[in-house]
Amino acid sequence: MDGNGRWATKRHLPRIAGHKQGVESLKRLVRASVQRGVSVVTVFAFSSENWSRPADEVSGLMDILVFALGREVSQLHQEGVQLRFIGSREALSEKVRSGLHGAEVLTATNTRIVLNVCFNYGGRWDVAQAAARLAALQEPITEASLTRVLSLAHCPDPDLIIRTGGEKRLSNFLLWQAAYAELYFSEALWPDFDEVALDEALQEYAHRQRRFGKTPDQVSPSHQSADGADH
Ligand code: FPP
Repeated sequence: MDGNGRWATKRHLPRIAGHKQGVESLKRLVRASVQRGVSVVTVFAFSSENWSRPADEVSGLMDILVFALGREVSQLHQEGVQLRFIGSREALSEKVRSGLHGAEVLTATNTRIVLNVCFNYGGRWDVAQAAARLAALQEPITEASLTRVLSLAHCPDPDLIIRTGGEKRLSNFLLWQAAYAELYFSEALWPDFDEVALDEALQEYAHRQRRFGKTPDQVSPSHQSADGADH
């Protein structure tokens, strides 16, 4: 969800106003995703590296999270959203931790859509914590065993990863799970990323051929006819 700070700065507002608008954008996008039949949405709200931002921005993001939980969770619950918070909770305050826990417990049995909010998350952290768990259990470390203890084990790997805000990198997001994801980069700042922008991303995704290491003919033998046209 990149670009909140720039969205605010362009309007001569404090950066935190951009993050507040980012929550509105998130709500809109979750609803749009439900309508479009998406079953899992995973967003990057606070990275392991974001602690190095100015202290007032870090505390502002924590406050927004607690405030948004208080204001939005019952509505999300009514709409069938299962909320999961992904990331280390060790450095989070008791207030934040209990907010996350309460929201997860309330929405645990909802099945319409899973919304994973990565908060104090990093892809490298996730792989390391998974390996440490297996080591503690004295289990062999394999692709299958790691996949079982990664923090997104409750979800399939993502089909599509969208990064807003114009940057073209993953920035430590879903490193393991992104292996075969289609990547889509949008110039839109996150608060401006609306239903139309989502549909453009889904439209482009629909035209990608996903081969998972196979040849084009193996995946879709009829993708070219004798006349050479795509079908
Ligand atoms: C990146 O934009 C965005 C973040 C670090 C925070 C994202 C947070 C929210 C959308 C609100 C909080 C969400 C929840 C679920 C509580 P940036 O600040 O790097 O923007 P910039 O690149 O324009 O500076």
